[in-house]
Amino acid sequence: MKKYFQSLGYIIFLGVSSYAIITAIKSYEKPFSLYENPLVWIALVAVVLVVLLKEFLNITALQQAEKLRMEKDGITPEEVDIWAGVKKIIKRWTKARALEEESEIILDHNYDGIKELDNSLPPWWLYMFYATIIFGVVYLVRYHVLGADNQATEYNKEMAEARMELQKYQATSPNVFDISTVTQLTDASDLTRGKAVFNLNCAACHAPDGGGGIGPNLTDKHWILGGGFKNAFNTIYNGGRDGKGMVAWSKTLKPNDIQKVASYVLSLQGTTPAKPKDPQGDIWVENTVEEVSSKDSIK
Ligand code: HEC
Repeated sequence: MKKYFQSLGYIIFLGVSSYAIITAIKSYEKPFSLYENPLVWIALVAVVLVVLLKEFLNITALQQAEKLRMEKDGITPEEVDIWAGVKKIIKRWTKARALEEESEIILDHNYDGIKELDNSLPPWWLYMFYATIIFGVVYLVRYHVLGADNQATEYNKEMAEARMELQKYQATSPNVFDISTVTQLTDASDLTRGKAVFNLNCAACHAPDGGGGIGPNLTDKHWILGGGFKNAFNTIYNGGRDGKGMVAWSKTLKPNDIQKVASYVLSLQGTTPAKPKDPQGDIWVENTVEEVSSKDSIK
């Protein structure tokens, strides 16, 4: 009965774990990437270990049964050295000579009492040495004769691929911008959101109507850090000049909120605030090609 439950448990374990592993392999994009999905490997190794353990237990149980049977029949089983196989393998791979045989391989030299044995090279070492030679030849041919990518080329290729993926991601994700792709919004709902963000975060320094205070007037044509949507976005995202009080809002606001508040700020152009601050900076003339002034890109 006990045995029956054990086998049943074993079969259930195998079934459930195979099912889990197959599901994982089907649902992961790179199931065998040790870096991304180490669990798949852990599960595989665990299953193999359990199967091996089970086999080992089976064999020992069979051996035990055999011994008992022989004892019952009155045959004394001869002692078997369970390490015999391992010893044989070690001997074959080291070609070690027993102490008693040393006289056969001792050399004639005698360096002040130090003698030398003429051992043959241990095969484990020798084959590894051959393997390095083969590796060296393959490497030489592949990289220096056939001109496969070296590390630098490989790196550049991967970086280019990563940039492409980043671009793809940016194109589809509303919360990531590139200064070159960000655009001014004009929808009423976006401007309403922009206004809310402005009143909450910016009005303290720029006045609720954008007339200015600690910060410059945002309704006039004068700009310190460059006018136009992209410059305004850049200033808000990366902050103003050091020590002037305009921080980089990328740390607190989401990029799409910055896009909305920047659009809102620009919508204030030409309005008449209650207490306008005197103009600061230069009159901004919109170019067809907008240039980014202070900091050239969003980090
Ligand atoms: C602590 C006060 C303070 C707060 C809060 C603040 N600003 Fe500013 N802002 C400034 C100062 C000061 C400058 C001028 C920076 C400089 O001279 O480099 C400035 C500059 C600007 C500029 C560029 C103006 C120009 O003439 O080039 C824009 C656009 C701007 N702020 C928008 C915002 C927005 C949007 C917010 C809210 C998210 C905001 N600011 C919050 C103080 C502030």
